[in-house]
Amino acid sequence: MDAKVKSFSNNDQDKSDSFSQDVLHGLSQEQKTLPCKYFYDSRGSQLFEEICELDEYYITRTELALIDTIKHEVADLIGDSATIIEPGAGAGKKIQKLLSALDSPKTYVPVDISPDFLDYSEQKINQKFPKLEVLPIEADFTKPLSWVQQRNIQNRNVFFPGSTIGNFSPQQATKLLANLASITDDDGGVLVGFDLHKNVDKIKAAYNDKKGVTADFNKNILVRIKSELNANIDPETFEHEAVFNHDESRIEMHLKSKIEQTVEIENRRFDFQKSETIHTENSYKYSNQAFVELAQEAGLTSQKHWMDDEQLISMHYLTK
Ligand code: TRP
Repeated sequence: MDAKVKSFSNNDQDKSDSFSQDVLHGLSQEQKTLPCKYFYDSRGSQLFEEICELDEYYITRTELALIDTIKHEVADLIGDSATIIEPGAGAGKKIQKLLSALDSPKTYVPVDISPDFLDYSEQKINQKFPKLEVLPIEADFTKPLSWVQQRNIQNRNVFFPGSTIGNFSPQQATKLLANLASITDDDGGVLVGFDLHKNVDKIKAAYNDKKGVTADFNKNILVRIKSELNANIDPETFEHEAVFNHDESRIEMHLKSKIEQTVEIENRRFDFQKSETIHTENSYKYSNQAFVELAQEAGLTSQKHWMDDEQLISMHYLTK
């Protein structure tokens, strides 16, 4: 990574300060919460990759196959010499499929809070697409991405797969889509993938796999609190729970205390009843129509959308 990239990232001290502040704040709420972005240290990123390969977790493999099917159509919509910005880039498998179909893409900008993911994707993409400029940015993509507008680049598109949009409340998702729209230009658009509403047992299984990888992923946030903060907490006294909230059309991940206990973090005490939970993440499920309405709120129009044969997931190409 070059110096320009580093200047966008916080230094380590800032990082651990905001981690502890966010943890203390979240655990002080009536329904205790922890922000899901802290799942992704290097172990968390590794566990997330394992989730993507699980039998029960259909999103990744279905979306990869769908991208394969639609990539030439998408390439026609995007046009030549495009810049593709990917918030929460992760390991970068999906983008490779898209890039390979595009007509002489110019620049790829992976944005991620995990430097491990960024290093990996930069290397991989450079290797496979030697003519493409890769500009990795270590940043939290929910923060303003105005630096992209400042660079004078044409045909700016955002690639936002993986149902990451589903991890935000509809209100937050609208704001985020508007923010992503603001970094595209008149030639560009936003290609976004989300999980469709479906049989609840299938959804629940995807977030509560038999091998317990999702459980380890969820508990990893407690492992981080224990090792990175001044904390007296035993992750093994909590268990993973995934519940479907019908009213909100979302699956919720919680960490449920197996016992009544008091944990101490940075000299603050937090009481847990037996079975009290920390709410760690949501994954909202939409119909195509509900999603189109959400996009409209953000000032975006769906030009075209595609689904897999089983109608598990959907991808929309949105423009301003
Ligand atoms: N955004 C994806 C989803 O909602 C991936 C994901 C994010 C996920 N956090 C997760 C998957 C936690 C399993 C568990 O499905």
